[in-house]
This record gives sequence, structure tokens and C-alpha cells, in this order.
Amino acid sequence: MAKATDKVRVWDLPLRLFHWTLVIAIAIAFLSSEEESVLNQWHVLAGWVVAVLIAFRCVWGFVGGEHSRFSDFIRPVRIADHISGLLRGKSEASLGHNPLGAVAVLILLALAAATVWTGAFGGEGAEEFHEIIAWTLLAMVGIHVAAVIIMSAMERESLIRAMISGYKPAPRHPGAANARPPNLFGWAIAILTVAGSILLILRYDPQAFTPRSAEAFEHRAEGTSRPSVSDEGSEHEN
Ligand code: HEM
Ligand code: HEM
Repeated sequence: MAKATDKVRVWDLPLRLFHWTLVIAIAIAFLSSEEESVLNQWHVLAGWVVAVLIAFRCVWGFVGGEHSRFSDFIRPVRIADHISGLLRGKSEASLGHNPLGAVAVLILLALAAATVWTGAFGGEGAEEFHEIIAWTLLAMVGIHVAAVIIMSAMERESLIRAMISGYKPAPRHPGAANARPPNLFGWAIAILTVAGSILLILRYDPQAFTPRSAEAFEHRAEGTSRPSVSDEGSEHEN
């Protein structure tokens, strides 16, 4: 029998770092989004950090630790069972994401990706779209946090504590084994993905990780689209 103090390993370190860095970056992106905000120079930078994190997460879903893998938690056939259990007030504590939580995970990632995409590549025509998707993301985050609190109460274990420490209490999960940790190959691919995505972003926007206003980002192409950087230089060409 598991002792009350026994723990079972669930979330690997990169996944936990991913989650809490994503929370910070998205919070900064929102707090800095208004043009008048004193934080506005951090908006695009925070958004690019979100882009790198999403690239990492997509790859980690294939090469990460056991419960980080998409194959571990994308189980559509179990969603109906899970919902009927919830309606009867019965909820079986999952070791990884529960079947419904998994859907929320994918929606959150897709909305964050769409927000970044419209902000980065949409141009001025997509401004409204960018804003609408961003607010939809915020609403989804609200639902996510509420669901985490409700599920923690129903399952009588703190999911938040598990996302910080990586462990869940063993007595709540009889027979559960420690999650298989990521292997060396997974780490190598993840590091290459992060480095590769940073390089790609810098090729598209060389000042991606330098603080500057969102407006400066929007007008970045002016003066740099021609071989000579200065306006004077381009006048000579004419
Ligand atoms: C998850 C990440 C992001 C969130 C939550 C977010 C959110 C927002 C919001 C709410 C606004 C509207 C501000 C207003 O009220 O005027 C905005 C504006 C803007 N965002 Fe983002 N954004 C994100 C990522 C990005 C990225 C990656 C870029 C560019 C690389 C970007 C570029 C811009 C620009 C240029 C504006 C100003 C356009 C305008 O006036 O609406 N954003 N963003
Ligand atoms: C910008 C805000 C947030 C975003 C975008 C977000 C996104 C996510 C994502 C994508 C996951 C899945 C992890 C993975 O496998 O990749 C997740 C899980 C989780 N998040 Fe968040 N999150 C946010 C805020 C929060 C906050 C504020 C809390 C705590 C109060 C929280 C608590 C958790 C917990 C406990 C899990 C694990 C759920 C489970 O046990 O299945 N999140 N979140």
C-alpha cells in the first residue's frame, strides 16, 4: 500500500517550464497590448517567446516524457465516458491530462498559435482578427483555470501543485508508476527545435527579441525592404 507521503512522478521539467513561461509570456503580451501602455515595447517580444514555446510544445508532444506525449492524452473515445462520470459526480483522478482536459489543452495551444500568427504575419489587415482571437484565448484561459480549480476539488488533489513540483500523491493513484522520463534523443530534438525556431524568427524579424513598440514592428519593413537601408540611399536609386 502506498504511504500518505509517497509520490508518483507525472510532469517532466521541460513541460512545467513550458507551462509557467507560457503563462508569464501571455500575461505580458496582454498587459502590454495597448499602444498607450508603458509596457508596449514588450508586446511583440513576449509574443515571439510564445511562438518559440508553441514550437517546443508541438515537438515535445512526440518526444517528451510519458504524460507530455499527445498519444498519452488524446483519446477521443474516452471523452463521453469521462463526461458521464462527471455528471454523476464521479471523477476518476487521471495521472496525466484527463480526456476532457486534453481537449482544452489543444484549444489553448491552437488559440495561442493563431494569436501569434495573426500578430506576426497578418499585417495591418489582421489587426482586428488578432485582437478578437487574443480575447477568445483569454476567455479560454479563464475556463481553463476554473476547470483546474474545480477538478482539483473533485479529485481531492491539487493539480496546480503537480504542475509546479511534477509529482502527484501516490495514494490517490493506486498502482501508478512513475512517468517515463524524456530520453536524450528527446532533449536533443527539443533543444534543436528551440534554437531553430529562434533562428527562423530572427530571419523574419531581426529585432524580434529587442524591446520596441508594436508600431515599430508594424513599420519595420519601411526603409529595409531595399538593399540600401537609409532613405537617402533609396532616393539616389530613383
Ligand atoms: C499570445 C500572444 C499575443 C497576445 C495575447 C496578443 C494580444 C494583443 C491584443 C489584445 C492587441 C490589441 C491591443 C489594442 O487594444 O489595441 C494586440 C495588438 C497588437 N499585437 Fe499582439 N498579441 C500577441 C502576440 C503578438 C505577436 C507575436 C505580434 C507580432 C510579432 C503581435 C503584434 C501586435 C501588434 C503590431 C499590435 C498592434 C496592432 C493593433 O493596433 O491592434 N502580437 N495584441
Ligand atoms: C495564459 C494562461 C495559461 C495558459 C495559456 C495555459 C495553458 C495550459 C496548457 C497548454 C496546459 C497543458 C500542458 C501541456 O501538456 O502542454 C495547461 C495545463 C495546466 N495548467 Fe495552464 N495555462 C494558463 C494558466 C494557468 C494558470 C493561471 C494555472 C493555475 C492557476 C494553470 C494551471 C494548470 C494546470 C494545473 C495544468 C495541468 C492540468 C492537468 O492536470 O491536466 N494554468 N495549461
